[in-house]
Amino acid sequence: MSRKFIIGNWKMHTTSAEARQLAKAVVVGMSRVARVSVAICPPFPYLALVGEILKGSRVALGAQNLYPEKEGAFTGEVSPTMLLDLGCKYVILGHSERRHKLGESDTFINHKVRVALAAGLNVIFCVGETLVQRNAGRTKTVLDRQLVQGLAHLSAVTLTRLIIAYEPVWAIGSTGHDATPQQVQEAHAIIRHRFGRMFGTKSAEALSIQYGGSVKPKNATALLSRLGVDGALIGGASLHASQFLAIVRAGINEAQTEEESA
Ligand code: 13P
Repeated sequence: MSRKFIIGNWKMHTTSAEARQLAKAVVVGMSRVARVSVAICPPFPYLALVGEILKGSRVALGAQNLYPEKEGAFTGEVSPTMLLDLGCKYVILGHSERRHKLGESDTFINHKVRVALAAGLNVIFCVGETLVQRNAGRTKTVLDRQLVQGLAHLSAVTLTRLIIAYEPVWAIGSTGHDATPQQVQEAHAIIRHRFGRMFGTKSAEALSIQYGGSVKPKNATALLSRLGVDGALIGGASLHASQFLAIVRAGINEAQTEEESA
């Protein structure tokens, strides 16, 4: 896969004014680049206003979560139908912050993934081990479990709308523990292998796997140039248009290099 996909996860950041400014800056920056796919995922309250700014641009809109029901008595929740209505193409599910801070289980995440895909959304499904799990040599076991349980009972026709993000919990949020490009490549290979066993080699080859965990302009090229790293899911650096766009440009360079050497 040569076209990289760079996604900004704004998490619980920005005011409406900041969201507007940031989205505009990304759109302007993207008008000068080609051969890379980009999406941004603002907080729920700003989806509509950011969606207006992204209309007609090359930047897609994504959400950071959803509730797996069409509608009903679910106070405070947001349905896939609402996200589609607002122009969302993507939704992030299984993020470690929701797994660990909000207690989301593999079973619940699986329900969300299936409902989101059935509704027509593209799902960015996040997996990743904690530092304790890595140090105990359990990375593969944890990734396998998250994939097997989180992607259980998926309909084969929806697989093309599934993206996986490898986000080691210990490397998220500038913790000082950055994953090395080698560690990232190895984890992506584990994920692709497991996915292949679940859904077949063809689906595994076509699968896009992003890396997320303190991706910055300074390490983007080293990460994106690794075999099997198809893009990046960016937290902190996506809140600064200049940094986000620098990572997007690293994605283009890598895509071109791969094409030239092919
Ligand atoms: P950081 O880029 O801030 O480490 O966040 C990564 C992440 O969790 C993206 O979903």
